[in-house]
Amino acid sequence: MDQQHSDALVFFGATGDLAYKKIFPALQSMVKRGDLDVPVIGVAKAGWNLDQLKARAKDSLEQHGGLNAAAWQKLNSLLRYVDGDYADAATFAAVRKELGSAERPAHYLAIPPSLFEKVVEQLVKSGCSKGARMIVEKPFGHDLASAQELNRILLSAFPESSIFRIDHYLAKGPVHAMVAFRFSNSFLEPLWNRNYIESVQFTMAENFGVQGRGSFYDQTGAIRDVVQNHIFQVMCNLAMECPARRDSESMRDEKVKVLKAIPAIEPKNLVRGQFRGYLDEKGVAPNSKVETFAALKLEINSWRWDGVPFYIRAGKNMPVTCMEVMARLRKPPTTNMTEPDTPQNYMRFRVSPEMTVAMAVSVAPLSGTGKREAVEMVASRHPRPEEMEAYERVLGDAMAGDATLFARQDYVEEAWRIVDPVLKAEMPVYPYEPQTWGPKEVDQRVVPPGGWDEPSGDEPEDFRIVGQQPEQPEKTV
Ligand code: BG6
Repeated sequence: MDQQHSDALVFFGATGDLAYKKIFPALQSMVKRGDLDVPVIGVAKAGWNLDQLKARAKDSLEQHGGLNAAAWQKLNSLLRYVDGDYADAATFAAVRKELGSAERPAHYLAIPPSLFEKVVEQLVKSGCSKGARMIVEKPFGHDLASAQELNRILLSAFPESSIFRIDHYLAKGPVHAMVAFRFSNSFLEPLWNRNYIESVQFTMAENFGVQGRGSFYDQTGAIRDVVQNHIFQVMCNLAMECPARRDSESMRDEKVKVLKAIPAIEPKNLVRGQFRGYLDEKGVAPNSKVETFAALKLEINSWRWDGVPFYIRAGKNMPVTCMEVMARLRKPPTTNMTEPDTPQNYMRFRVSPEMTVAMAVSVAPLSGTGKREAVEMVASRHPRPEEMEAYERVLGDAMAGDATLFARQDYVEEAWRIVDPVLKAEMPVYPYEPQTWGPKEVDQRVVPPGGWDEPSGDEPEDFRIVGQQPEQPEKTV
């Protein structure tokens, strides 16, 4: 890893929505932690001046997480602003001037990918690309071909080691905690393979719609928005082999290996849905066929996972908001000591909004006879994980040159390869009622053995007894 810290941050798209909701709060947190003490140059074409950008930044902090007087004062002193067109050489001459003596700037492209080429070209011509790092926002492309094209553009001016493709899911503490849990518990490893795991399912549910992002979402859909990136990353953490070393490339090598072992999704293994009312959203085409829900099955043809089906379900306007993974273990054989309906063991990783790592075991009533029930043993529970905000982590890591939490070129291209054929296939999109688990066609076509789990919106205070309200005190293993 190149250890030199970036000595300026230039962020394109400074007047946009992402900057308002996520970037300014992340910058304030970085200042507060002592991790940001270099010029921060906002760039946009909005006809604004520096005072307007500062007013917007202050407002953003007040609305998103709260203003910290000391940190704001410092951030305020670091902010600079360049207004201008991304195709205009004068804009980049102004950026170069603001960079002053900085020799290792980090350029952060929080702008639509269609503008990347222009910006990269101008960065090179103006001399701003020298010694620089590039941080690029998702979505990285629209399909395999466009991702390859974006890679071509970026790699024409920067080495791969200077390119940081953001997937903010990778910066979530609980997503890492899964990896740590897997590789620091010897009891898990013997079970964590095709011999014991029957199926794995991922649910990323959001109980809200497109929240005013209709025009973005209608170009995107659930598969591009969260499956191809966020959920695949979580899946790789769950499925990969232990990296040989701790460095970013060893980790990223293992993730790419998982994706390489996944054949492209077949249309018969995908159900797309659209919530009723989506077509009335601002920015959505009146006859849009874009999916706001997807349920799919895939396979990982590796030594570890061959024959184990992986299911993914993601949607807007679901009954709850959460991200959960459940790996079900095969049932024990039916003997005179076990009942045919003995509940299955499973491992449950809840990534958001709370973090939970739990394992369901089957227990008999005290009498030893009668129906077994599944009881969750909770290994780790954090109702509100106190963690660094995802954007603070990704910006900090990119500026420090640590690529572990970023998608490498081969990773993004493999991920697109897996979804590309179903994105291109003209597949039906079935309507579903808001606040439900998607269209009824899912239950006919894409169902894990034992059915879809229905995660709760809020984790109960206590450990969960499947099918019953918990009353017992919390237990930890
Ligand atoms: C974004 C998607 O990348 O991730 C959104 O564009 C989605 O549609 C969001 O809501 C989910 O991430 P988080 O961190 O807000 O749960």
